[in-house]
Amino acid sequence: MLMHSAKRLHISTIGCQMNVYDANQIAGVLAPLGYTGSDAIDSADLVIVNTCTIREKAEQKAFSFLGRLAKIKTANPSLIVAVGGCVAQQEGEAILKRMPHVDLVFGTHAIFRLPDMIRRIETTRCRLVDVRLSDTIEFDSPVAGPLTDGQVSAFVTIMRGCDNHCTYCVVPHVRGREASRHPDRIIEEIRLRVDQGVREVILLGQNVNSYGNKEGLCTFTELLERVNGIADLERIRFTTSHPKDLSEDLIRAFGHLEKLCRHIHLPVQSGDDEILKRMNRRYTRDGYLEKIARLRAHCPDVAITSDFIVGFPGETDRQFQSTLDLIAAVRYDGLFAFMYSDRPQAPAAAFSGKISEVVKKERLQALLDLQERITLEKHQAMVGRIGQVLVEGPSRGIEAAGSENAAAPIRWTGRLPSNHIVHFSVPGSGPERKEVLTGTVADIIIEGAYAHSLWGRLTHRGMGAAAEKGENSIVS
Ligand code: 5AD
Ligand code: SF4
Repeated sequence: MLMHSAKRLHISTIGCQMNVYDANQIAGVLAPLGYTGSDAIDSADLVIVNTCTIREKAEQKAFSFLGRLAKIKTANPSLIVAVGGCVAQQEGEAILKRMPHVDLVFGTHAIFRLPDMIRRIETTRCRLVDVRLSDTIEFDSPVAGPLTDGQVSAFVTIMRGCDNHCTYCVVPHVRGREASRHPDRIIEEIRLRVDQGVREVILLGQNVNSYGNKEGLCTFTELLERVNGIADLERIRFTTSHPKDLSEDLIRAFGHLEKLCRHIHLPVQSGDDEILKRMNRRYTRDGYLEKIARLRAHCPDVAITSDFIVGFPGETDRQFQSTLDLIAAVRYDGLFAFMYSDRPQAPAAAFSGKISEVVKKERLQALLDLQERITLEKHQAMVGRIGQVLVEGPSRGIEAAGSENAAAPIRWTGRLPSNHIVHFSVPGSGPERKEVLTGTVADIIIEGAYAHSLWGRLTHRGMGAAAEKGENSIVS
């Protein structure tokens, strides 16, 4: 077996969960070359910038970070600088031309070719570009890169790319055609994660509802059923769903799959039919509301979140008002909202009727204000209830919320099945309980409601469960 001296790899990730997952894969495929993760950029041997181009701001962030690396490379000329992710896919060779300190540009489908390319750069100091896209997933074996200490939840990609062509979106151009992984490989990867101590998996895809369709594998609901059968896995989440493809099967799954968290992220983008049409979303406001009603009929406590774009080209005040009305009607548990920004490769970049930055900002603020009121009301309605929190670990940087909790030496954080974040105290706890609580499901009584989180306390029943886990972990 070849021995490698330890080399330091620093990965900087901007963007969505898919990029976070890819960063983990990158760390996994480069480990056999002797690279281990490092937080320090200055002393790294290889820096990888994992970029995002979904909105203009993300792309600017990537370029400004890359710009700063020039200085670090001057101080350390043997440093290898690699650019991956969506900006790399979009810009390719242009990055090498524009930035002489960059050694490698690799696209979203090139991760498994990275080890070869890095080896070549190490030995010949050449500069390389690989932005080939393919229609199928060539390398499907599970990699499962390193976890952080006590990591409770892990992403697992089930598919990549998107065939939908929403007119504002760059994803089909930078992530390629939709392709699904084989269910057996997905199950293998989840088992690996569970063996490593993970309690929850978040299945990732641009449009999980069309999983397996093209390849004739199995449906997404069938995949969920298989994942639900994995021993020692506590919770399953997934993202993202396209409303047009949300099937009756999946809606029903929320009612009967016990490990599936009662939360769905169902991006609607706009509440106006004309805008939805020009976005090429292929559903109507009423069709969307009907799906929400069916979800709630099967699973009354399902939490629903969404994405919105404000200021899409041509959006009138009246059309924006339809979006606000939809938010008030659905009463989301949370949402993400973005000001529309042109993506040069996406069709809407050529649409007329561009909205000014000032109006976009006003609309964004109005939308966020409305949702904040709804979130707070919904949070307040949870006070006094007991919820099952999957504990992620001690919470950091939390202000003492409520004087009666201020005396507690440590505060914890975790999530309800609805994905609500709960910070909580444990009467009489100290740092030594870290291993005991992290990764357990604790019964927490909700005592405080804030705009962005909930505050609670471990109940007696919850302490029993945690103690049991503690005994088990000592014995093993
Ligand atoms: N401008 C603004 N927001 C966008 N999104 C995608 N493309 C754009 C764009 N060009 C938002 C959508 C999507 C989320 C991931 O990013 O709301 O659901
Ligand atoms: Fe983009 Fe639409 Fe595909 Fe989502 S569904 S990734 S918004 S093209």
